[in-house]
Formats: sequence, structure tokens, C-alpha cells
Amino acid sequence: QFRGRSTSCNGDGFIEGEGGCLEESATAGPDKLERPGSIENDALHLKRRVGLISGVALIVGTMIGSGIFVSPSGLLARTGSIGMSFVVWMACGLLSLLGALAYAELGTMNTSSGAEYAYFMDAFGAPPAFLFSWASTLVLKPSQMAIICLSFGKYAVEAFVNECEPPDAVVKMVALLALVVILYINCYSVNLATSVQNIFTAAKLVAVLIVIVGGAYKMCEGNVQHLQYPFENTKFSVGNIATAFYTGLWAYDGWNNLNYVTEEIKNPSKNLPRSILIGIPLVTICYALINVSYLTVMSPLEMTNSEAVAVTFGNRLLGVMAWLMPLSVTISTFGSANGTLFAAGRLCFAASREGHMLDILSYVHVRRYTPAPGLIFHSLIAGAMVLYGTIDSLIDFFSFTAWIFYGGSMVALMVMRYTKPNYRRPYKVPIIIPLVVLVVSIYLIIGPIVDKPTIEYLYAAMFILGGMVFYIPFVHYKVRIPLMGINNHFIHEVNGKTYFRKYSYWK
Ligand code: ARG
Repeated sequence: QFRGRSTSCNGDGFIEGEGGCLEESATAGPDKLERPGSIENDALHLKRRVGLISGVALIVGTMIGSGIFVSPSGLLARTGSIGMSFVVWMACGLLSLLGALAYAELGTMNTSSGAEYAYFMDAFGAPPAFLFSWASTLVLKPSQMAIICLSFGKYAVEAFVNECEPPDAVVKMVALLALVVILYINCYSVNLATSVQNIFTAAKLVAVLIVIVGGAYKMCEGNVQHLQYPFENTKFSVGNIATAFYTGLWAYDGWNNLNYVTEEIKNPSKNLPRSILIGIPLVTICYALINVSYLTVMSPLEMTNSEAVAVTFGNRLLGVMAWLMPLSVTISTFGSANGTLFAAGRLCFAASREGHMLDILSYVHVRRYTPAPGLIFHSLIAGAMVLYGTIDSLIDFFSFTAWIFYGGSMVALMVMRYTKPNYRRPYKVPIIIPLVVLVVSIYLIIGPIVDKPTIEYLYAAMFILGGMVFYIPFVHYKVRIPLMGINNHFIHEVNGKTYFRKYSYWK
């Protein structure tokens, strides 16, 4: 069931528009799910609706989420000094910008919504493309979900405990509760899920604005004492810097989001690079300002020790309005988690439709049109990650895996310059850019392992390779076992009622 160039992540697309693009996301789900037929046909129906502004909103909305509220402490701890952590924050922004520009070439050359999946297919063939789809369904999306839910839990609990640390078990319970509620919303109705998305996106802008404006105010009052001696205590180890990048890059993740919707961008060869060139620097500037803001009310040491920096910030600055901070951050993270599950469900659904995953995961609920089995599957994995992981270990796990594939896309770009010199490239990036991104990604992947091998990297590597073990019999040789059969109808009837139907049989 491996259909050439078609995509596995179609549908992930602007559903991923965790950010502000109202019109697009409100119609994304039903549009795609109600319409039967091949993926290629789906693609034909997509309209070019994303202009420059929506493009920027999609990038900014996906990138800003939980990271800027949880990463600053970890990043500071890993770099040792505010100067170095500032350098890493900026470098993460630059790396995302360069990566995105290289992706703009890939995206305008191959407009398939599958993004990486489609590029790997073109450049390296089916097995690496499968590995991407495997890793994103089993590892990347669920870990995103778990990290965001845990951040939600942290902020929700932090609002109620004063000086003491929020108990870990409670944070996890709240994270799981959020996961279940989001799962319910997404299984219940596509429209509900997209509305939650649009309303909640506004909250993240509120949170960001409060911090920036508050910081500027404090700065004007002359609170700059913590910004002196910026490079004192810097840790220069190779591994520390690389893992600091992991933490920072989590906050920037989502920079490649427009590549999932290139088919829908108006005049992509102009608007794709432009949205990138506006959106990513915008986020970078916001993050820089937020970091400075935090330091106007707390010392670097307090920042490293703070369980939820934005709450500490709010407590010190907003007085009776301090509740505004945890509230806006929890709403923001809840929205991000919702958008992530929404996208993950579609990804899983599309991957299984391609025959990459258990067949049952490609079923769509008969009346609600939601890909419920895929959503449940994702939430189970994410739930396990919430239970057994911590925010920091999951961020490392996620970034490590993600950058293997981002680096892979850079290789794909360079390989295709040779193997497909005649493909039309409406936007051609200077070759030095993907080269730099590739070198940095190799450093990011190898640095932490050489410096301090931890179990997360081993798990991640095993997961990816495990994909190959699955690929050879089940995808390549099409061995079928119950549950995976193409004509397996068992879930269709429960107590004489039809609950799910196979998408491919949709009438
Ligand atoms: N950067 C986001 C955050 O800080 C996470 C984005 C996750 N990636 C994605 N493609 N949705 O929470």
C-alpha cells in the first residue's frame, strides 16, 4: 500500500495551523475527511487561500506555544550564564530561519502536503520516507503532545501553590486530565476542535504581550542589575551547548509548518519565503524580549530555580492581577496541545491509509467524521510519555529525533540538486544555507551522545531503527496479520451498530 509520491501526512497541513488562520483551520478537518477518494484527488480540491498574512500567522502561531514559558530556565541552567543563553536563543532563531529557507526550496519544488515524507520519497526512495512517517506518528507527535500537556500541568498547578514546588504527581495528573479532555474534544467534533484552536490562540499573544510590556516597564524603572556581567559562569562544554540548543529549538519548533500547506499558499514562490522571512525573525525578537523581561524581575539563579518562570514573573510584577499569567499560559498551552492532537490524528490517519500503520487507525467515525482511532492511539502513547517522562527529558528526546529528520531534509535538498537538476525550483536557496544547517544538525545529533550518552537517545535511535524491522515484512512484502488486513471490517459493527468505517470505502 505504498503509493508512490502521494503523501503520508496529508491532512496534517493547516490543521497544524495552531496559529491564527481562522478561515483555514475552521474548514480544514471536515473538508478533508468528508471527501473520499485518493490523496491525489484531495490535493486537487485544495484551494490556494493562504496569503502572506495568514502565512506569517501560521508560522508564528505554531512556533509560539509552551516553549517560551518552560525553556528559559532549562536553557539558562545548561549554558550557565545569561549572555550565553541569549546567544543560544538567537542562534536557535537563526538556525530555524535558515532551515526554513531551505525548506522553502523543497516546498516550492514539491508542493505535496506530506513535506518531509514527500522529499525523502523523491530523494532517497521509500524506506527513509517510511521511517519519517513512522517516527513522526510514534515519536514526534506524541512527544510534542506530552511536552505541551506537561507544561500545561505545570502552569495550572503552579497557580495554586505558592512558594513550594508543585508536586510532580499532581502535575502529571493534571497533564493527563488535559490530554483526556482534548482527546474528547477532538473525537467529538472537528468544528469544536478548530474553534477551541482559534479562540485559544489569542491567549498566547496576550501572555507574550504581558511579559514584553511588563519587562519594558521594569527596564524603564532601571531594573537592569541582573543584566550586568552577562557571561559570568558560562559552561563551554560541547554537550551542554548542544542540549541547550535542544531546549531552545523546542520553543522554535514549527518553523517548517508552512511546508505542510504549500499547495494552499497563494503564489508560493514569493509568499513562502516572505512569510518565513517575516515570521521567524518576529518570533526570535519576541523570545529575546521575553528573556530580557524575565531578568528584569528575577536574578539568573531565581530564573533557573523557578518552576514556571512566567508565573514568577507575574507574581513579582502584576500584584493582584498575578493570576492573569498562569491563566493565559494554561490557555495558550491547552490550545497548542489541542492543535497538536488535531494534526497528529490526521497524520496517523493518513499514514495508516498508506498502509504504514495498523489498518484500524485509518478509520473515521461514521457520523462525527473524526479519525477517532488514530486520536486515541496517539493519546495513549502521549499518556505513557507523560507518565514516564519529564519535560526536559522529553524535549531532548523530541529534539534529537526531529533534528535527524531536519538534517535528512537538507541532505535530500542537496541530493536532488544532483539527481533532479531539471525539476522546477521556483525558489532556489543558496546552497551554503542547507550545508550550514546540515553541519549544525550533525553537531546537534552527535554532540549530546558523545558528551553524555543518556537513555533517551538510545530509545529514540531504537524507535527509528525499529521502523525498519516493521517496514521490511509489513510494508515492503505486505505481510498481513489480523488488524492490519486491508479488508478488515471487524470494527465496523459493534452491537449491531456501525461505528467506524474505512476511509477508503467512504461513500
Ligand atoms: N514551539 C512550540 C512550543 O514551544 C512547539 C511546537 C511543536 N511543533 C509543532 N509542529 N506543532 O510549544
